[in-house]
Amino acid sequence: MIERKKNQEKIKSIVTPKSSQNENDSVEVSLRPKNLEEYIGQTEIKKNLSIFMQAAKKRKEALEHVLLSGPPGLGKTTLANIIAREMGVHIKITSGPALEKQGDLAAIITNLQEGDVLFIDEIHRLKPVIEEILYSAMEDFCIDIIIGKGPSARSMRLSLPRFTLIGATTKLNMLSAPLRDRFGNIFTLQFYKNEEIEKILQRSSHILACKLTKEAMIHLSKTSRQTPRIANRLLRRIRDYAEVHNMEIIDETATNETLDSLGVDILGLDHADRHILQTIIEKFHGGPVGLNTISAAISEEQGTIEDIYEPFLLKLGFLERTPRGRIVTKRAYQHLKLPLQEKNNQKGQKTFW
Ligand SMILES: Nc1ncnc2c1ncn2[C@@H]1O[C@H](COP(=O)(O)OP(=O)(O)O)[C@@H](O)[C@H]1O
Ligand SMILES: [Mg+2]
Repeated sequence: MIERKKNQEKIKSIVTPKSSQNENDSVEVSLRPKNLEEYIGQTEIKKNLSIFMQAAKKRKEALEHVLLSGPPGLGKTTLANIIAREMGVHIKITSGPALEKQGDLAAIITNLQEGDVLFIDEIHRLKPVIEEILYSAMEDFCIDIIIGKGPSARSMRLSLPRFTLIGATTKLNMLSAPLRDRFGNIFTLQFYKNEEIEKILQRSSHILACKLTKEAMIHLSKTSRQTPRIANRLLRRIRDYAEVHNMEIIDETATNETLDSLGVDILGLDHADRHILQTIIEKFHGGPVGLNTISAAISEEQGTIEDIYEPFLLKLGFLERTPRGRIVTKRAYQHLKLPLQEKNNQKGQKTFW
Protein backbone atom coordinates (compact mmCIF):
# COMPACT_ATOMS: atom_id res chain seq x y z
CA MET A 1 0.00 0.00 0.00
CA ILE A 2 2.78 2.38 0.98
CA GLU A 3 4.67 1.34 -2.11
CA ARG A 4 1.61 2.02 -4.22
CA LYS A 5 1.06 5.41 -2.65
CA LYS A 6 4.68 6.34 -3.25
CA ASN A 7 4.37 5.19 -6.79
CA GLN A 8 1.24 7.21 -7.33
CA GLU A 9 2.91 10.34 -6.09
CA LYS A 10 5.81 9.82 -8.41
CA ILE A 11 3.47 9.28 -11.34
CA LYS A 12 1.33 12.25 -10.53
CA SER A 13 4.20 14.65 -10.73
CA ILE A 14 5.08 13.36 -14.16
CA VAL A 15 1.85 12.62 -15.87
CA THR A 16 -0.81 14.85 -14.40
CA PRO A 17 -1.53 17.68 -16.77
CA LYS A 18 -1.04 20.17 -13.93
CA SER A 19 1.79 22.61 -14.35
CA SER A 20 4.86 21.54 -12.46
CA GLN A 21 5.33 22.71 -8.89
CA ASN A 22 7.42 25.46 -10.32
CA GLU A 23 5.59 26.92 -13.29
CA ASN A 24 8.72 28.82 -14.27
CA ASP A 25 10.64 25.61 -14.60
CA SER A 26 13.28 26.74 -17.07
CA VAL A 27 13.01 23.71 -19.35
CA GLU A 28 9.26 24.15 -19.69
CA VAL A 29 9.78 27.79 -20.53
CA SER A 30 12.47 26.96 -23.09
CA LEU A 31 10.03 24.63 -24.84
CA ARG A 32 7.35 27.30 -25.12
CA PRO A 33 6.61 28.45 -28.65
CA LYS A 34 7.35 32.16 -28.99
CA ASN A 35 5.00 33.10 -31.81
CA LEU A 36 1.81 31.93 -33.50
CA GLU A 37 3.76 30.21 -36.23
CA GLU A 38 5.59 27.98 -33.75
CA TYR A 39 2.35 27.28 -31.87
CA ILE A 40 1.20 23.94 -33.24
CA GLY A 41 -2.46 22.95 -33.75
CA GLN A 42 -5.56 24.86 -32.52
CA THR A 43 -5.88 26.02 -36.13
CA GLU A 44 -9.25 27.75 -35.82
CA ILE A 45 -8.18 29.72 -32.77
CA LYS A 46 -4.93 30.77 -34.41
CA LYS A 47 -6.76 31.86 -37.56
CA ASN A 48 -9.25 33.99 -35.66
CA LEU A 49 -6.68 35.41 -33.28
CA SER A 50 -4.42 36.36 -36.11
CA ILE A 51 -7.23 38.34 -37.81
CA PHE A 52 -8.26 40.06 -34.56
CA MET A 53 -4.68 40.98 -33.79
CA GLN A 54 -3.99 42.35 -37.25
CA ALA A 55 -7.20 44.40 -37.16
CA ALA A 56 -6.43 45.83 -33.73
CA LYS A 57 -2.89 46.70 -34.79
CA LYS A 58 -4.17 48.41 -37.93
CA ARG A 59 -6.60 50.49 -35.89
CA LYS A 60 -3.83 51.11 -33.33
CA GLU A 61 -6.15 49.85 -30.62
CA ALA A 62 -5.72 47.38 -27.79
CA LEU A 63 -6.94 43.87 -28.58
CA GLU A 64 -10.38 43.09 -27.17
CA HIS A 65 -10.36 41.02 -23.99
CA VAL A 66 -9.70 37.33 -24.60
CA LEU A 67 -10.85 34.34 -22.55
CA LEU A 68 -9.02 31.03 -23.02
CA SER A 69 -10.60 27.90 -21.63
CA GLY A 70 -9.62 24.25 -21.68
CA PRO A 71 -8.01 21.50 -19.61
CA PRO A 72 -4.56 22.08 -18.10
CA GLY A 73 -1.47 21.76 -20.27
CA LEU A 74 -3.12 22.58 -23.61
CA GLY A 75 -1.33 25.89 -24.10
CA LYS A 76 -3.37 28.71 -22.52
CA THR A 77 -0.47 30.44 -20.76
CA THR A 78 1.70 29.95 -23.84
CA LEU A 79 -0.94 31.55 -26.05
CA ALA A 80 -1.34 34.54 -23.71
CA ASN A 81 2.40 35.19 -23.91
CA ILE A 82 2.33 34.83 -27.68
CA ILE A 83 -0.51 37.35 -27.98
CA ALA A 84 1.43 39.95 -25.99
CA ARG A 85 4.56 39.33 -28.02
CA GLU A 86 2.75 39.51 -31.35
CA MET A 87 0.98 42.71 -30.29
CA GLY A 88 4.34 44.12 -29.19
CA VAL A 89 3.15 44.91 -25.65
CA HIS A 90 4.13 43.99 -22.09
CA ILE A 91 2.39 41.21 -20.21
CA LYS A 92 1.67 41.23 -16.48
CA ILE A 93 0.82 37.83 -15.06
CA THR A 94 -1.29 37.05 -12.03
CA SER A 95 -3.92 34.51 -11.02
CA GLY A 96 -7.39 34.42 -9.51
CA PRO A 97 -6.36 33.02 -6.12
CA ALA A 98 -3.36 35.41 -5.86
CA LEU A 99 -5.58 38.48 -5.86
CA GLU A 100 -6.76 38.81 -2.27
CA LYS A 101 -7.82 42.44 -1.95
CA GLN A 102 -9.15 45.04 -4.37
CA GLY A 103 -5.91 46.91 -3.80
CA ASP A 104 -3.89 43.97 -5.21
CA LEU A 105 -5.65 44.26 -8.54
CA ALA A 106 -5.65 48.07 -8.47
CA ALA A 107 -1.87 48.09 -7.97
CA ILE A 108 -1.28 45.92 -11.01
CA ILE A 109 -3.86 47.46 -13.25
CA THR A 110 -2.89 51.09 -12.65
CA ASN A 111 0.69 50.27 -13.62
CA LEU A 112 -0.24 48.96 -17.05
CA GLN A 113 0.62 50.91 -20.16
CA GLU A 114 -1.64 51.53 -23.14
CA GLY A 115 -2.30 48.24 -24.96
CA ASP A 116 -0.59 46.03 -22.34
CA VAL A 117 -1.86 42.55 -21.56
CA LEU A 118 -3.01 41.61 -18.08
CA PHE A 119 -3.09 37.82 -17.83
CA ILE A 120 -5.22 36.35 -15.06
CA ASP A 121 -4.79 32.60 -14.78
CA GLU A 122 -7.51 30.53 -13.08
CA ILE A 123 -9.85 33.46 -13.50
CA HIS A 124 -12.81 31.38 -12.27
CA ARG A 125 -11.25 31.57 -8.81
CA LEU A 126 -11.47 35.36 -8.48
CA LYS A 127 -13.09 36.67 -5.33
CA PRO A 128 -16.43 38.47 -5.93
CA VAL A 129 -15.05 41.81 -4.63
CA ILE A 130 -12.24 41.66 -7.16
CA GLU A 131 -14.56 40.59 -9.93
CA GLU A 132 -16.70 43.63 -9.25
CA ILE A 133 -13.94 46.13 -9.88
CA LEU A 134 -12.82 44.14 -12.88
CA TYR A 135 -16.18 44.80 -14.55
CA SER A 136 -15.67 48.56 -14.77
CA ALA A 137 -11.98 48.11 -15.55
CA MET A 138 -12.82 45.87 -18.50
CA GLU A 139 -15.77 47.84 -19.79
CA ASP A 140 -15.11 51.49 -19.01
CA PHE A 141 -11.37 51.36 -18.34
CA CYS A 142 -11.74 52.92 -14.92
CA ILE A 143 -11.87 51.70 -11.34
CA ASP A 144 -13.33 53.13 -8.17
CA ILE A 145 -11.08 52.74 -5.20
CA ILE A 146 -11.72 53.65 -1.59
CA ILE A 147 -9.09 55.85 0.00
CA GLY A 148 -8.78 56.05 3.77
CA LYS A 149 -10.81 54.33 6.47
CA GLY A 150 -13.89 55.05 8.60
CA PRO A 151 -15.80 58.34 8.29
CA SER A 152 -13.07 60.05 6.28
CA ALA A 153 -13.02 57.31 3.65
CA ARG A 154 -13.85 58.48 0.18
CA SER A 155 -14.16 56.87 -3.17
CA MET A 156 -11.97 57.94 -6.03
CA ARG A 157 -12.32 57.12 -9.69
CA LEU A 158 -9.11 56.27 -11.53
CA SER A 159 -9.03 56.05 -15.27
CA LEU A 160 -6.93 53.29 -16.76
CA PRO A 161 -5.04 52.86 -20.01
CA ARG A 162 -6.83 50.71 -22.60
CA PHE A 163 -5.46 47.28 -21.80
CA THR A 164 -6.29 43.74 -22.87
CA LEU A 165 -7.37 41.29 -20.24
CA ILE A 166 -6.57 37.68 -21.06
CA GLY A 167 -8.26 35.24 -18.71
CA ALA A 168 -7.49 31.53 -18.58
CA THR A 169 -9.76 28.95 -17.04
CA THR A 170 -10.11 25.20 -16.82
CA LYS A 171 -13.76 25.66 -15.84
CA LEU A 172 -15.67 27.90 -18.19
CA ASN A 173 -18.96 26.98 -16.52
CA MET A 174 -17.77 28.35 -13.19
CA LEU A 175 -17.30 31.82 -14.59
CA SER A 176 -20.12 34.21 -13.77
CA ALA A 177 -22.19 35.34 -16.75
CA PRO A 178 -21.39 39.07 -16.28
CA LEU A 179 -17.66 38.35 -16.35
CA ARG A 180 -17.90 36.01 -19.32
CA ASP A 181 -19.96 38.54 -21.26
CA ARG A 182 -17.25 41.15 -20.95
CA PHE A 183 -14.83 39.15 -23.05
CA GLY A 184 -14.94 40.02 -26.74
CA ASN A 185 -13.33 36.73 -27.70
CA ILE A 186 -13.82 33.38 -26.03
CA PHE A 187 -11.67 30.50 -27.26
CA THR A 188 -11.95 26.92 -26.07
CA LEU A 189 -8.77 24.93 -26.62
CA GLN A 190 -9.17 21.37 -27.83
CA PHE A 191 -7.14 18.26 -27.13
CA TYR A 192 -4.46 17.82 -29.79
CA LYS A 193 -4.43 15.28 -32.61
CA ASN A 194 -1.67 12.66 -32.44
CA GLU A 195 0.03 14.18 -35.51
CA GLU A 196 0.11 17.55 -33.79
CA ILE A 197 1.61 16.08 -30.65
CA GLU A 198 4.21 14.41 -32.89
CA LYS A 199 5.14 17.80 -34.34
CA ILE A 200 5.40 19.26 -30.84
CA LEU A 201 7.63 16.35 -29.83
CA GLN A 202 9.79 16.87 -32.89
CA ARG A 203 10.25 20.51 -32.04
CA SER A 204 10.96 19.78 -28.38
CA SER A 205 13.39 16.94 -29.09
CA HIS A 206 15.28 19.32 -31.32
CA ILE A 207 15.49 21.95 -28.57
CA LEU A 208 16.47 19.35 -25.97
CA ALA A 209 18.97 17.78 -28.37
CA CYS A 210 17.67 14.24 -28.06
CA LYS A 211 17.07 12.05 -31.07
CA LEU A 212 14.11 9.69 -31.30
CA THR A 213 13.34 7.14 -33.99
CA LYS A 214 10.13 7.71 -35.94
CA GLU A 215 8.51 4.71 -34.19
CA ALA A 216 9.47 6.00 -30.75
CA MET A 217 8.03 9.42 -31.62
CA ILE A 218 4.73 7.92 -32.82
CA HIS A 219 4.48 5.71 -29.76
CA LEU A 220 5.18 8.59 -27.42
CA SER A 221 2.65 10.85 -29.13
CA LYS A 222 -0.06 8.22 -28.54
CA THR A 223 0.62 8.08 -24.83
CA SER A 224 0.70 11.83 -24.23
CA ARG A 225 -3.01 12.26 -23.50
CA GLN A 226 -3.24 14.63 -26.44
CA THR A 227 -1.67 17.23 -24.17
CA PRO A 228 1.54 19.13 -25.05
CA ARG A 229 2.68 19.52 -21.44
CA ILE A 230 2.53 15.77 -20.88
CA ALA A 231 4.23 15.05 -24.20
CA ASN A 232 7.11 17.31 -23.21
CA ARG A 233 7.33 15.84 -19.73
CA LEU A 234 7.43 12.26 -20.96
CA LEU A 235 10.04 13.26 -23.52
CA ARG A 236 12.23 14.61 -20.72
CA ARG A 237 11.92 11.38 -18.75
CA ILE A 238 12.88 9.42 -21.86
CA ARG A 239 15.83 11.71 -22.39
CA ASP A 240 16.95 10.91 -18.82
CA TYR A 241 16.69 7.20 -19.60
CA ALA A 242 18.76 7.62 -22.77
CA GLU A 243 21.38 9.61 -20.92
CA VAL A 244 21.76 6.99 -18.20
CA HIS A 245 22.00 4.23 -20.81
CA ASN A 246 24.34 6.18 -23.08
CA MET A 247 21.94 5.94 -26.00
CA GLU A 248 22.46 8.27 -28.94
CA ILE A 249 19.15 7.54 -30.58
CA ILE A 250 16.09 6.68 -28.54
CA ASP A 251 14.19 3.72 -29.94
CA GLU A 252 10.80 2.23 -29.23
CA THR A 253 12.17 -0.21 -26.64
CA ALA A 254 13.66 2.58 -24.56
CA THR A 255 10.40 4.51 -24.87
CA ASN A 256 8.39 1.48 -23.79
CA GLU A 257 10.62 0.80 -20.81
CA THR A 258 10.40 4.38 -19.60
CA LEU A 259 6.64 4.49 -19.98
CA ASP A 260 6.32 1.11 -18.21
CA SER A 261 8.41 2.30 -15.31
CA LEU A 262 6.15 5.34 -15.04
CA GLY A 263 3.04 3.15 -15.12
CA VAL A 264 1.79 4.86 -18.26
CA ASP A 265 -0.23 2.58 -20.54
CA ILE A 266 -0.74 2.57 -24.29
CA LEU A 267 -3.47 5.22 -24.12
CA GLY A 268 -1.54 7.40 -21.72
CA LEU A 269 -3.54 6.44 -18.63
CA ASP A 270 -1.55 6.30 -15.41
CA HIS A 271 -2.09 4.67 -12.01
CA ALA A 272 -4.32 7.48 -10.86
CA ASP A 273 -6.68 7.25 -13.85
CA ARG A 274 -6.92 3.50 -13.55
CA HIS A 275 -7.48 3.80 -9.83
CA ILE A 276 -10.46 6.11 -10.41
CA LEU A 277 -12.03 3.79 -13.00
CA GLN A 278 -11.36 0.66 -10.95
CA THR A 279 -12.80 2.21 -7.81
CA ILE A 280 -16.04 3.13 -9.58
CA ILE A 281 -16.22 -0.37 -11.03
CA GLU A 282 -15.29 -2.33 -7.92
CA LYS A 283 -16.95 -0.27 -5.22
CA PHE A 284 -19.90 1.22 -7.05
CA HIS A 285 -20.72 -1.34 -9.75
CA GLY A 286 -19.51 1.02 -12.45
CA GLY A 287 -21.78 3.90 -11.31
CA PRO A 288 -23.68 6.11 -11.46
CA VAL A 289 -21.85 7.53 -8.48
CA GLY A 290 -21.48 11.12 -7.32
CA LEU A 291 -18.21 12.97 -7.59
CA ASN A 292 -18.09 13.57 -3.82
CA THR A 293 -18.38 9.83 -3.18
CA ILE A 294 -15.60 9.06 -5.65
CA SER A 295 -13.51 11.76 -4.05
CA ALA A 296 -13.96 10.24 -0.58
CA ALA A 297 -13.27 6.72 -1.86
CA ILE A 298 -9.94 7.57 -3.46
CA SER A 299 -8.92 10.37 -1.06
CA GLU A 300 -8.49 12.91 -3.80
CA GLU A 301 -10.03 16.37 -3.97
CA GLN A 302 -13.10 16.77 -6.14
CA GLY A 303 -11.55 19.68 -7.98
CA THR A 304 -8.48 17.64 -8.88
CA ILE A 305 -10.58 14.79 -10.20
CA GLU A 306 -12.73 17.19 -12.21
CA ASP A 307 -9.91 19.33 -13.57
CA ILE A 308 -7.07 16.92 -14.00
CA TYR A 309 -8.33 13.41 -14.58
CA GLU A 310 -11.86 13.62 -15.86
CA PRO A 311 -11.44 15.67 -19.04
CA PHE A 312 -9.28 13.05 -20.72
CA LEU A 313 -11.34 10.11 -19.45
CA LEU A 314 -14.45 11.82 -20.83
CA LYS A 315 -12.63 12.52 -24.08
CA LEU A 316 -11.69 8.84 -24.39
CA GLY A 317 -15.31 7.91 -23.75
CA PHE A 318 -14.29 5.93 -20.65
CA LEU A 319 -16.45 7.96 -18.32
CA GLU A 320 -19.82 9.59 -18.72
CA ARG A 321 -21.34 12.39 -16.71
CA THR A 322 -25.01 11.95 -15.99
CA PRO A 323 -27.36 13.84 -13.68
CA ARG A 324 -27.11 10.87 -11.29
CA GLY A 325 -23.32 10.78 -11.27
CA ARG A 326 -20.37 9.32 -13.12
CA ILE A 327 -20.65 6.08 -15.07
CA VAL A 328 -17.78 3.95 -16.34
CA THR A 329 -18.46 2.90 -19.92
CA LYS A 330 -18.09 -0.43 -21.66
CA ARG A 331 -14.98 0.83 -23.45
CA ALA A 332 -13.23 1.40 -20.14
CA TYR A 333 -14.05 -2.16 -18.97
CA GLN A 334 -12.60 -3.45 -22.21
CA HIS A 335 -9.45 -1.36 -21.89
CA LEU A 336 -8.93 -2.46 -18.30
CA LYS A 337 -9.72 -6.04 -19.31
CA LEU A 338 -12.38 -6.33 -16.62
CA PRO A 339 -15.51 -8.47 -17.02
CA LEU A 340 -18.67 -6.51 -17.80
CA GLN A 341 -21.17 -6.40 -14.96
CA GLU A 342 -24.86 -7.20 -14.89
CA LYS A 343 -26.87 -4.04 -14.46
CA ASN A 344 -30.39 -2.73 -14.60
CA ASN A 345 -30.91 -0.33 -17.45
CA GLN A 346 -33.22 2.70 -17.23
CA LYS A 347 -36.27 0.54 -17.95
CA GLY A 348 -35.29 -1.79 -15.12
CA GLN A 349 -34.28 -4.58 -17.53
CA LYS A 350 -31.12 -6.55 -16.87
CA THR A 351 -28.26 -5.86 -19.27
CA PHE A 352 -24.58 -6.63 -19.25
CA TRP A 353 -22.22 -3.74 -18.95
N1 LIG B 1 0.34 24.61 -29.37
C1 LIG B 1 1.49 24.27 -28.82
N2 LIG B 1 2.58 24.02 -29.55
C2 LIG B 1 3.74 23.64 -28.97
N3 LIG B 1 3.93 23.51 -27.65
C3 LIG B 1 2.88 23.76 -26.85
C4 LIG B 1 1.63 24.16 -27.37
N4 LIG B 1 0.77 24.35 -26.35
C5 LIG B 1 1.45 24.07 -25.24
N5 LIG B 1 2.72 23.72 -25.52
C6 LIG B 1 3.74 23.29 -24.55
O1 LIG B 1 3.07 22.77 -23.41
C7 LIG B 1 3.50 23.41 -22.22
C8 LIG B 1 2.28 23.71 -21.37
O2 LIG B 1 1.52 24.73 -21.94
P1 LIG B 1 0.81 25.88 -21.05
O3 LIG B 1 0.62 27.05 -21.94
O4 LIG B 1 1.59 26.10 -19.81
O5 LIG B 1 -0.58 25.17 -20.74
P2 LIG B 1 -1.82 25.70 -19.86
O6 LIG B 1 -1.53 27.13 -19.50
O7 LIG B 1 -3.02 25.54 -20.75
O8 LIG B 1 -1.89 24.79 -18.68
C9 LIG B 1 4.28 24.64 -22.65
O9 LIG B 1 5.44 24.80 -21.92
C10 LIG B 1 4.64 24.41 -24.10
O10 LIG B 1 5.96 23.98 -24.19
MG1 LIG C 1 -1.21 27.85 -17.54
